[in-house]
Amino acid sequence: MEWIKFIIRKLGYNRLKNKLYKNFINEILYPFALLARISLSEGIFLMELVKESHKFSGPIVEIGTLFGYSTTIMIHSKDPQRKLISVDDFSWNPCGFSKNLHYDLTKKLLEEATEKHSVQLLNMDKNEFYRTYNDVPPSLVFFDANHTYEETMRDLLWAKEVGVKVISGHDYKKETPGVIQAVNEVCEGKPSRIHESIYVL
Ligand SMILES: C[S@@+](CC[C@H](N)C(=O)[O-])C[C@H]1O[C@@H](n2cnc3c(N)ncnc32)[C@H](O)[C@@H]1O
Repeated sequence: MEWIKFIIRKLGYNRLKNKLYKNFINEILYPFALLARISLSEGIFLMELVKESHKFSGPIVEIGTLFGYSTTIMIHSKDPQRKLISVDDFSWNPCGFSKNLHYDLTKKLLEEATEKHSVQLLNMDKNEFYRTYNDVPPSLVFFDANHTYEETMRDLLWAKEVGVKVISGHDYKKETPGVIQAVNEVCEGKPSRIHESIYVL
């Protein structure tokens, strides 16, 4: 009798273990590795923008770090001394991580970048960053945070106001019409360049 109970318990345990494993793969690992980041081809284009922006002085600013994928891509083509400020309030991620876990993980993922490659990770709301920014005009900004019309408009107007030299962003595509509308309004037409869903004013 005891050994039958043992087998049933074992089967139950294995079933639970398999279920947790599948959930981990589908709900955490795949979203972490695959979702909500720029594509490889967009990354290569972003690297070109970083190189182009080196003719101007001022830091590179990224709005929307997530887990640091696009940040890391920019590090590959920036001058080592060029400051790169990446801003995120850790309000959203595709894995459902808490704000604290999201920040902690991203901080660790970017540890070498912040220690050795002139990267500054700021845990703050982008609009608070705009309100308090008092450095020289950035050479390049890459917007990839909130994709509504109102928020994209705030991003772009800030960039214009402080005199950012190269203004770019992600998700200029039909699924996020607010980005298209705000970008078109600000440049009174179409952006000068579009690569997949990256725009450059
Ligand atoms: C699409 S993800 C960024 C993806 C990243 N650029 C990449 O390609 O790896 C959007 C990020 O914007 C952040 N975000 C959303 N609203 C924000 C706000 N108001 N201020 C700062 N960050 C914000 C989210 O927490 C999320 O990490």
